[in-house]
Formats: sequence, C-alpha cells, structure tokens
Amino acid sequence: MSSLSITDVVVGYGRSDVLFEVSLDVPAGDLVCLMGRNGVGKTTLLNAVAGLLTLRSGSISYDGRELSGLSAAKRARRGIGYVPQGHAVFPQLSVRENLLVVAEREGRADQSAFDEVIDLFPALATLLGRPAGLLSGGQAKQLAIARALITRPDILILDEPTEGIQPSIIHQIEDTIAALHATLGMTMLLVEQYVEFALRLADRYAVMDGGRIVSAGETASADPAEFVGLIAI
Ligand SMILES: Nc1ncnc2c1ncn2[C@@H]1O[C@H](COP(=O)(O)OP(=O)(O)OP(=O)(O)O)[C@@H](O)[C@H]1O
Ligand SMILES: [Mg+2]
Repeated sequence: MSSLSITDVVVGYGRSDVLFEVSLDVPAGDLVCLMGRNGVGKTTLLNAVAGLLTLRSGSISYDGRELSGLSAAKRARRGIGYVPQGHAVFPQLSVRENLLVVAEREGRADQSAFDEVIDLFPALATLLGRPAGLLSGGQAKQLAIARALITRPDILILDEPTEGIQPSIIHQIEDTIAALHATLGMTMLLVEQYVEFALRLADRYAVMDGGRIVSAGETASADPAEFVGLIAI
C-alpha cells in the first residue's frame, strides 16, 4: 500500500497564491478527511495532487516517489484515482461507455472490474444504456466514482462526493466509501463538508482555512464542537 505525502505546497492562480505551505500526509490504508469553508483551497490542493495544477514550491510524493513533473494521466497510471468536484461524466456516452472508455484508456478493461463497480453501485446496473447526460445529479456522481474505481486505484481522492445530493443517495455513497475503506482497505483522501459524515468515516482529519491547514489530528480524539467555528458556512 502507498502513502501520499504533501509537503510545504504553495499553489496559486495568476499573481496570487492560494495555498501557503500546506503539508498533509495520507498514510497507507487510512481515510483522511479534508474540511473547510468554501474557497479555502480544498479543490486547489486536490487538483495539485492529481497533476492539474503546478506547484510554485513544495513537493508531493506518492509511494516515496516525487510526483511533480508527472502529467495527470501518468499519476492516474501510478494508481491515483480522482473524482473531481461536480459530476463530470461524458454526457453523450452511455453509462456503460463512460465506464469502458476509462477502463480501456488505462488498459484495465476487464469484465471483473466492470462487474465490481456495478456491484458497488447497483443503481447503475439498470442505467447502463442511458446517456450519462440524462442521469440525475446523484446518479452521475455514482457514475463518476465508479469510473474512478474501474481503474482499481491504490488511492481514491474524492472532492465533495455528497455535494448537492439528496439524503438517501448521500447514505448510499457514504456506505460505499465506508465499504471501500473497510473491506478493501483503500487509502482515501476525501473533501467533505458534513462533519458527522467525515468524523464517522475518517481515521484522520484536517481543516483548512485561508489556504492553510489550521487543525489536524485523529478523528477518534476529535471534538465536533471544535469544528463549528472553522467549518460553518
Ligand atoms: N481557476 C482559478 N483561477 C483563479 N482563482 C481560482 C481558480 N480556482 C479557484 N480559485 C480561487 O482559489 C481559492 C480557492 O478555491 P478552491 O476551489 O480551491 O476552494 P474550495 O475550498 O475547494 O471551495 P469550495 O468549498 O467552494 O469547493 C478561491 O479564492 C477561488 O476563488
Ligand atoms: Mg472545492
């Protein structure tokens, strides 16, 4: 199993920096939850890990190897699965094609991987022929997660998987994340705004504010009341 190590990372857009020497470790097998108000830099940090943004300084290593200089595609091949914020699926392609196109690109298009993700998201089984653009937000989110999982990543990075989704689907997504972590021991970095959800699932947490990590630790010893001022929107 592999661990992700983010050290003193500075990232910005144009002339301004948005992340200021952010350090965060995701130990192998752990689920780490990153929390914080809107606009504090959570997505920016995940995009930097996925290789979609360049570091101004600092380093990100995975499995003991530096990632900087590697394209997003190479990082995916290294086993880093990323489900970005929103529900980015290919709208004209069917649910089945959305899954297969990614599996084929990564050279991992075997039937068992396909069956595994359908088992994890049974709701998709009845929608395989439907264009992804016609899915509901919750269905599209499940497809986006399934698409990341079909490549059998070693670490799964999820940016607000429950954002804008109705409670019953939130529970399904929550159960799936818990099962991936508990039964497969998958390493995960999760951005999540729901404190209870985060604390129930995660081994460790980190809270960002203004582009910095302002609180971090083990969820077992965390006091939810402490987060109210840091996270309340
Ligand atoms: N492409 C961009 N160009 C310029 N500024 C950006 C860009 N993307 C994000 N920002 C700015 O960077 C800061 C951090 O944004 P980011 O999306 O990382 O926040 P976030 O914590 O993910 O917020 P949210 O909870 O709303 O998703 C914000 O001030 C945002 O306006
Ligand atoms: Mg975000």
